[in-house]
This record gives sequence, structure tokens and C-alpha cells, in this order.
Amino acid sequence: MDNVLSGKRIIVGITGGIAAYKAPLLVRLLVKAGAEVTCAVTDHALQFVTELTLETVSGNRVYKELFDRQNPHSTEHISLKDWGDAMIVAPATANIIGKMANGIADDALSTLLLSFRKPLFIAPAMNTQMLENYALQRNLDYLRANGVSVIDSASGELACGSSGNGRMEEPERIVEAMEKVLSTESHCSGKRVLITAGPTYEKIDSVRFIGNFSTGKMGFALAEELASRGYEVVLIAGPTQLATSHSGIRRIDIVSAREMYDAATREFPSCSAAILSAAVADFRPEHEADHKIKKQSDQDDMTLHLVQNPDILATLGTMKREDQLLVGFALETDNELENAKKKLAKKNLDFIVLNSLQDKGAGFGHDTNKVTIIDRSGNIDIGELKSKKAVAKDIADKVALLIGN
Ligand code: CTP
Repeated sequence: MDNVLSGKRIIVGITGGIAAYKAPLLVRLLVKAGAEVTCAVTDHALQFVTELTLETVSGNRVYKELFDRQNPHSTEHISLKDWGDAMIVAPATANIIGKMANGIADDALSTLLLSFRKPLFIAPAMNTQMLENYALQRNLDYLRANGVSVIDSASGELACGSSGNGRMEEPERIVEAMEKVLSTESHCSGKRVLITAGPTYEKIDSVRFIGNFSTGKMGFALAEELASRGYEVVLIAGPTQLATSHSGIRRIDIVSAREMYDAATREFPSCSAAILSAAVADFRPEHEADHKIKKQSDQDDMTLHLVQNPDILATLGTMKREDQLLVGFALETDNELENAKKKLAKKNLDFIVLNSLQDKGAGFGHDTNKVTIIDRSGNIDIGELKSKKAVAKDIADKVALLIGN
């Protein structure tokens, strides 16, 4: 099979970090994979790598000035953005990341980035403290949430003499990451999968809520995994700090169980499958005060009256058509298998993922999980403790087996 990069036109953006010395190698690897490459550089990048080197390895003129009359693309940066099928900024400094996240266009490269609408990759490279800075992390999260593929930096020796995270990923790995994303995008099956993730918050008054410890990690790992396989993912997320990175994920943020219910019942009919991993609050306060409830001076206790929330999974079970797949999660502490099997039947599921709270490292907040998958035919697959990413792969394998790619 042809390499996915073969015949593609790739713009390699280069900014002013020491890792720019590796950019010519990246260009060579892309050319070797069959891509046509044009480099777009900042002034500072040219302190680290010469224009002549880049022109020699790419075989194309370097784009560096907005108003360079010699450059066929220069009168309009627009023509270069139309020319490129994908773009990678490597290395991406904190400065260009800040500009991208804030829509700043003050030179040739940032102007081009602002108008570029096709697959976009960045490979950050900087000193560890800069990388860990809250503003930089916020900018990266924002770019990820808006479909930019961030190729995370690696740990190792840094130019400043210290060692830590912040080294630009090696050009070979960058090319592999680009191939992975571009090949899944080109093989998008068009099948849509609905995922619910995270907790729900049920308001008591204007400042308090009933919630739970779910972080959403499992559901988000599932969304990324399925999107990377070419499924169109609709992710309905409760309140969480997590960001999504794949452009194949459409995210709907909600707060309460009823909002999650509304979004899920609206989206489900157009989906081939739904995987409900959210930790939905079973009950909510009957009355929600629109002001902060004050405690009275002689008050020793307080009673909150709760009413039941709709069961989203059970509702989708009643809506499910023959051609749809429905997957639930179960969190049990006693009679785990029996209860999970009962839930599978009662809610009309195709399979259920039983979460164990008994095992160290599994469940809420952890990066690992240990699950047992039980299907309609009675097959029981007991998993090991694995990363949530690996568990997501197992679940995605089973989904793919049942609905196809
Ligand atoms: N779920 C849902 N809507 C609810 C409650 C739960 O969609 N109102 C879904 C969860 O996303 C999960 C599954 O139902 O996929 C099981 O949730 P769990 O809390 O284990 O079970 P419940 O059905 O709430 O039953 P119980 O609390 O009695 O164990």
C-alpha cells in the first residue's frame, strides 16, 4: 500500500528554537515518504537553520516574508494555504503556540497558520519550565480542543543544559504521528459513535451541587481511540478538565443528567453505536434554589429531598434499532457479575463493561483500569489492569467487530 504521505503537499513551518536544526531531517523524511514539501519560516528560525539548507532538502523556495515579490506564494499567503494538504510546525516555540491559540498574525508563518484549514500538527520544543507554564498548557489544550494534533515533546537533555521534558520529538516519530492521523482521516468510515463521559453535577443552589469523583478519563480515551480509527465521534461530556485532541470528535459539554439525557436522546438516532461511560447522578435535588441557601442560626441539620433522574442508558435501550449497538458500563461492589448481567438484559445492551472498584489502580481518577466485558451471548472476558488507553482499544475492537469499521 502507498504511504499516506505519498503525493501529499506538506508545509513545514519552522520557528526559532534550537530544535530547528532537526527540521531539514524532517523535510528529508517527508520527501522520502513521497511528499512535496515547502518550508515556511520565522526570522528567528533562520538563526538556527539556513534558507539554503531548507531549499536544498525540500527542492522548493522557502516562504518567509509576507510581501516578498520573488516568491510565487508571497503576494498572497492564501495561495500557499491552498497548496498544502497538511501542515506541521516543528519546532513550535511557546511564542508561535501562543499566537496560534490567540489568533495573532504578525509575520508570514503566523498569518499562514491563521488561514490554514487542513490537518495541522505542531511539535512543541522548549525548556521544561516554559512547557509546564499554565498559560502554555492552556494554549496547548485550546489548540487540541480545536483539532490541532499536538505531537508531544519528549524527555531528555535540553539545550539550556538541564534535562527534562521539552525536547522536540525525533523527526522519525513526527513523521509516524503524521502518517497515523492522516491515514485515519483518509479512511474515515463515516460511522458515528456516541460516547458519554465524566460526572454530572446536580445543582442544589447557585453555589452547590451533588456530584461524583468521575474524571471522564475512560470516556475520553474511548473517544480518542474511536476517532483515530476513523469513526465520527459525538462526545457528550460532563464537567471535566480533560481536553480532546482529534478533529474527528464533536464535543457537547453538559452539566446535569437531564442535559446529558437531552443531548444523548437527540444524537442517538443518527449514530451506529453508543457507549455510555458517564457516571450519571441517579438523583437530583427536587428543588434548585436560585440563590445561596443560608443556614439558620438554630439549625442543626438539613434535609434535601432528591428525585430520580432519567436513566439515559435504559432510555437508549428502548430507542435502539436493529442496526444500532448499545454499550453500558457497570460499577458494582457486590455480586458484580450477576448484577452486570442483569443490567445488560434489563437495559437492552449488546455488551456491558464491568468496572471493578476492588482493584488497586482501577476506577475513578486513575490512568489505569481493570474491566470485565460481558456480552449478550454470555461471553465473559476478564481483563488485566491496563492503561485506560489500552482498555479503550479492547472496547473499540469489540465495537468494530460488531458494527464494522
Ligand atoms: N446510566 C445512565 N443514566 C443514569 C444512570 C446510569 O445512562 N441515570 C448509565 C451509566 O452511564 C452506565 C450504566 O448506566 O453506563 C450503569 O450505571 P450504574 O450507576 O452502574 O448503574 P445504575 O443503572 O445506576 O444502577 P445501580 O445504581 O442500581 O447500580
